[in-house]
Amino acid sequence: MDRSRELFEEAQKHLVGGVNSPARSYEPHPIFMERGEGSKIYDVDGNEYVDYSLAFGPMILGHAHPTVVERVRERVGDGWALGTATEGETELARRVEGHFPSMDRLRIVNTGTEATMSAIRLARGYTGRDKVLKFNGGFHGAHDSVLVKAGSGAATHGAPDSPGVPVDLAKHTVVAEWNDESSVRRAFGEHGDDIACVITEPVFGNYGCIPPEDGFLKFLREITEDFWSLLIFDEVITGFRVSTGGAQERFGVTPDLTTLGKVAGGGFPVGMFGGRGEIMEDLSPSGDVYQAGTFSGNPVTVEGALATLDVLDEENAVELAAEKGGYLRNALSEELEGQEAHVQGVASMFSLLLRDGPAVNKADVDGCDTGRYDRLHLEMAKRDVYFPPSQYETVFVSAAHGEEELRETAEAVSRALGTV
Ligand SMILES: Cc1ncc(COP(=O)(O)O)c(C=O)c1O
Repeated sequence: MDRSRELFEEAQKHLVGGVNSPARSYEPHPIFMERGEGSKIYDVDGNEYVDYSLAFGPMILGHAHPTVVERVRERVGDGWALGTATEGETELARRVEGHFPSMDRLRIVNTGTEATMSAIRLARGYTGRDKVLKFNGGFHGAHDSVLVKAGSGAATHGAPDSPGVPVDLAKHTVVAEWNDESSVRRAFGEHGDDIACVITEPVFGNYGCIPPEDGFLKFLREITEDFWSLLIFDEVITGFRVSTGGAQERFGVTPDLTTLGKVAGGGFPVGMFGGRGEIMEDLSPSGDVYQAGTFSGNPVTVEGALATLDVLDEENAVELAAEKGGYLRNALSEELEGQEAHVQGVASMFSLLLRDGPAVNKADVDGCDTGRYDRLHLEMAKRDVYFPPSQYETVFVSAAHGEEELRETAEAVSRALGTV
């Protein structure tokens, strides 16, 4: 990894912390990757890795799927930014709506962050209320209203997570505990008439992968209806991942608004938000809630997304990845029996938690040995396997992973754990 170290030294002179997103930073230095193909990524020193981070989720087809490559190449030749309405945007919206019937109308943006930020603004505008309820440890992008974690109480006024987030704004973010109905009831008891929306990932994916307990999503649906608040499912990770219609299809609970990103753009920079037409029509230019973007619906991004959705449908890739995810989860659970490690997840997303037994909320994940996970990540890299660089990030499996690769990975994890 000599070249990675050199590149990192140089990067630090020009980029803050040597990276463009803190999630990419880890000790002693990030491995600089050069290219990806199928289930593999290749670093600048010529090493190859089986990739289970998959760009933090989007690459469900694996890297550089030939159909996507060809179609995007062709599209670039016709110009890559027109700043006008284009037919492909409508086609993409139509295709997404076909899989997500709760999204009668949608808007395409550039990132998941933009999608959740705009969905929250829309919820506030539509309801005329200011407060947002989120869950402790839930991540919805790096914008002010959601960069708030809980205090020690189960339901509390938020305090900013980051300097620069105004306290006056953070106080409008109410935080409850994931999978804990009583904390949500308390939050609604205290603030119910002021809560514009509840925003949550329907499967926690940013503080370990934590599925909802039976009935929890249905409970959220009911309590938001009782208080005339909107329910936003942030399906930036789960959309086209836990099923083609996302977690809302898998768990049978319909939100008012949905946010998408990652797989929905096939790895091109995309975000989307959408929901019931009556709510969405409040968005500019139909309504007064303002949202705009130079690159929104960019033709190359749209073509990349459309090509990805075509392959997903043709190759049944979401189900295929889910089968492979299930295979790896089982293989790991067998290999790790008796060790201080627990595998939990849904379909092709899961966590390898370095603790005894399952986690149902943030406090449980806080009990994991994160230092040991960091060492495991480096040890796995030495064994040609690239796991997400943090215990909190989700492990992803693609449709391109092979059964033998998955079996070897499970064995390698078991051996590596013995050394860290
Ligand atoms: C659930 C969720 N929402 C929103 C975001 C933000 O998306 P982006 O990084 O595209 O801005 C992420 C990113 O990891 C995410 O996992």
